[in-house]
Amino acid sequence: MNAGETMNFDPKMAPQEHVKQARDGLAVWDDIFRYAQSGFASISKDDFLRMRWFGIYQQRPNEGHFMWRIKIPGGRLRPHQLREIGRLAERYARGFGDITTRQDIQLHWLRIEDFPDAIDAVYRRAGLYTQFACGDCPRNITSCPLDDLAADQVLLLGDLVQRVSDMYRDGGTEFSNLPRKFKPSIAACPLHCHLPQINCVSTFLAARQSGGNREYGLGVMAGGGLSDKPHFAQSLRVFIPAADIPRAVPAVFRAVAHIFRDADQLRYKRGHARLKFLVAERGWQWFRDELEKRLGQPLAHDDAIVWPEGAVATDHMGIQRQRNGLYCVGVPVPCGRCTAAQMIALADLAERFAAAGDAEIRLSFRQNAFIANVPQENLPALCDALAAIGLPHDASPWRQALIACTGRQFCNLAVVETKDRARAILDYLEKNAPIDVPLMVSVTGCPNSCAQHHIADIGLTGIPVVLPDKRKVDGFNVLVGGRLGAEPRFAREIARKVPGDRVHHTIAALARFYMANRRTGPDGRPELFADFVARTPD
Ligand code: HEM
Ligand code: SF4
Repeated sequence: MNAGETMNFDPKMAPQEHVKQARDGLAVWDDIFRYAQSGFASISKDDFLRMRWFGIYQQRPNEGHFMWRIKIPGGRLRPHQLREIGRLAERYARGFGDITTRQDIQLHWLRIEDFPDAIDAVYRRAGLYTQFACGDCPRNITSCPLDDLAADQVLLLGDLVQRVSDMYRDGGTEFSNLPRKFKPSIAACPLHCHLPQINCVSTFLAARQSGGNREYGLGVMAGGGLSDKPHFAQSLRVFIPAADIPRAVPAVFRAVAHIFRDADQLRYKRGHARLKFLVAERGWQWFRDELEKRLGQPLAHDDAIVWPEGAVATDHMGIQRQRNGLYCVGVPVPCGRCTAAQMIALADLAERFAAAGDAEIRLSFRQNAFIANVPQENLPALCDALAAIGLPHDASPWRQALIACTGRQFCNLAVVETKDRARAILDYLEKNAPIDVPLMVSVTGCPNSCAQHHIADIGLTGIPVVLPDKRKVDGFNVLVGGRLGAEPRFAREIARKVPGDRVHHTIAALARFYMANRRTGPDGRPELFADFVARTPD
């Protein structure tokens, strides 16, 4: 079905709807190759928008270069795939790439004439795709980076994330004209690290009592999202038993995308076009009824499944023993920015040190990486090799949890620079404010929250600041105390317009205050930063 053909188009809808109505985003594929011949100047304004459907996005200052977002479902990569991306970064992207908060890899500096070869590398040589990486369609499906690996995993999902991603891709025009972007997440992580509460639709590990036993399955949430109007997703209070997961999850994710696609009332205002507004307005019961109508059968209702219980802020950094007895090594990547040489080296190290045939690299939404399936005896040599390429596995807790959005370097919406600032903040904090647990610091270049400042321990949002001597400099509003789980809270603002060259002092002071005054729980663990903030007056 082509949404463009079936929707009730109204000329009063947002300008982007007119572009999609004139021609589907997916129809631009052949034109990318044509434009590669005819050059940047020949690209029509509307096709710049349509090219986003294949992850191709103009980069600031819109003078001939593009960023290219490569979709990596669940952040799972084989070494040859990462090596191919590294080589691409070397050839066309000035030698670097960014791991993103949706487990993608984003390259910059590509020219339109580079795409035929770059597409060949990603699609054919790496076996990856970029369809629906940007645009009004289902974005990369995020997952727990240790799904199916972690020793405490009670439910295994196998290739489910990849299958649902391929379902969206193969659906083509069935999913290519949604009112706006659509963010799915699928995992059964016992820590709910995959942030189910901030996605449009997500699964999370749930349990119910069955004949005196605890039965594990998946719950489903819908309607989460950040940007400048953050919403937590609402649980649909359903339980998908383990045996039903392979069939039911793709069906649910297809039907939820259809509900969103058909909500034409969202297509009038771009700032009000996300699924979260529909769920907030109509309520989760309405949404569940609608979902069941489309599925043609009821789901198992369970009013006790309200939250991902006990969600904590982690992306599992560190070295851990997997369920199969091999080990997984977390590799903190400052701000997600990796040189091409580091990407290629990570691929080589995975091949060299992981068990033969099982080498895997996983990416996390904290912009970090993992090397999976490493035999214990290879750990020391792998760790030395990681340090030698500038990515030590045992970097400070600050380095593990600091993330930064694209910012002014490449983003047209940014009001401040972010990645360099984040690295300077990191250097200062590592030297001057020791901590013993990771605190998520998010450096975000505008209120859109691409680095998720609303759920950070300490979130910064860029804002221009005018100094007393009238100089205009980059500054930040400072927010603290975001958390997910059973008592979710968005971070609250505690300082406005802190000049960029002072903001590291603010963060260091907050960290010292926490370290000196936090409580220790009955389990001996320190209180979460967010809980400390919640009980501390402004
Ligand atoms: C109205 C415009 C935009 C809004 C509301 C927005 C919002 C967001 C949000 C909330 C995320 C959080 C990640 C998540 O969903 O888990 C995100 C991710 C991201 N955004 Fe934006 N964004 C916008 C435009 C842009 C632009 C113009 C750029 C860069 C040029 C950008 C770059 C990114 C990147 C790199 C990610 C990481 C996730 C991925 O791979 O998809 N965003 N965005
Ligand atoms: S948060 Fe703002 S500045 Fe940062 S990448 Fe997103 S849109 Fe750009």
